[in-house]
Amino acid sequence: MYGSGLWSMMGTALVFLLMLIPGIMGWGKEGHYATCKIAEGYLTGEALAAVKQLLPDSAEGDLASVCSWPDEIRFHYRWSSALHYVDTPDFRCNYEYCRDCHDSAGHKDRCVTGAIYNYTMQLSSYQDSIVESKYNLTEALLFLSHFIGDVHQPLHVGFTGDLGGNTIIVRWYRRKTNLHHVWDTMIIDSALKTFYNSDLTIMIHALQQNITNDWLNDASSWAICANNHTVCPEPYASESISAACKFAYRNATPGSTLGDEYFLSRLPVVEKRLAQGGVRLAATLNRIFSSQPKIAVARR
Ligand code: ADE
Ligand code: ZN
Ligand code: ZN
Repeated sequence: MYGSGLWSMMGTALVFLLMLIPGIMGWGKEGHYATCKIAEGYLTGEALAAVKQLLPDSAEGDLASVCSWPDEIRFHYRWSSALHYVDTPDFRCNYEYCRDCHDSAGHKDRCVTGAIYNYTMQLSSYQDSIVESKYNLTEALLFLSHFIGDVHQPLHVGFTGDLGGNTIIVRWYRRKTNLHHVWDTMIIDSALKTFYNSDLTIMIHALQQNITNDWLNDASSWAICANNHTVCPEPYASESISAACKFAYRNATPGSTLGDEYFLSRLPVVEKRLAQGGVRLAATLNRIFSSQPKIAVARR
């Protein structure tokens, strides 16, 4: 009896310690799956063919099934952990690439927006020669698909001092957790249970319906990048820190309990960010894998 009590105490202590280690996961598995599943539905034939060629065999042709891969390897590829987010100085509700895009050691470009530029550049070499590319384009595709999801999670563009909400301990209903985890996972989990019969497919279907109905006008503008650019993570990061200030941090001080009021008012924000991530990932992949010349040549 004594022995098993000790083991269970140690187990509890270990679980607690693990909970204190800041997570760097973006959206949880469900959020990334939803973003990539939505993107799949908007790929052009050309982009779909390139994606299928680059996917690992384990994906069985399904991008969504491997969109969480960068979270699974984050201990193995330690260099990649800073690439999941970009934080701003405390209480600054705007984002600036030059000021904010660095890792904790101050190395420039090592943040989620920098990573999105880098993997887009790598994938743009696909047309040249897939066999001889100096990059691993399979990894580039999975990183890009994951990081476009991450940059849409408001607290992946949070404040430096609280590690994007990771050190803000709150209760989600009766459960003790941190604010970052609420936004990565808990809001989506609660929505699945409360509104979608615990079925992610139904939730994704509802998001797709919204894109083609309520959000139709917005959705066509989500896909556009200013100045004919292939990828444009800057506005996505700006929108995220703005939503972090307005919705994530607001009324979520350390020790607070978040329940129905917080859940029901923030869920629409989470749903819109998942949909935007999906539409923008598809638009980006469509531009990367388009054989159209980037600059239209004026005809006589
Ligand atoms: N670690 C530090 N800041 C973070 C953030 N915004 N998101 C995830 N992990 C982090
Ligand atoms: Zn996260
Ligand atoms: Zn991530």
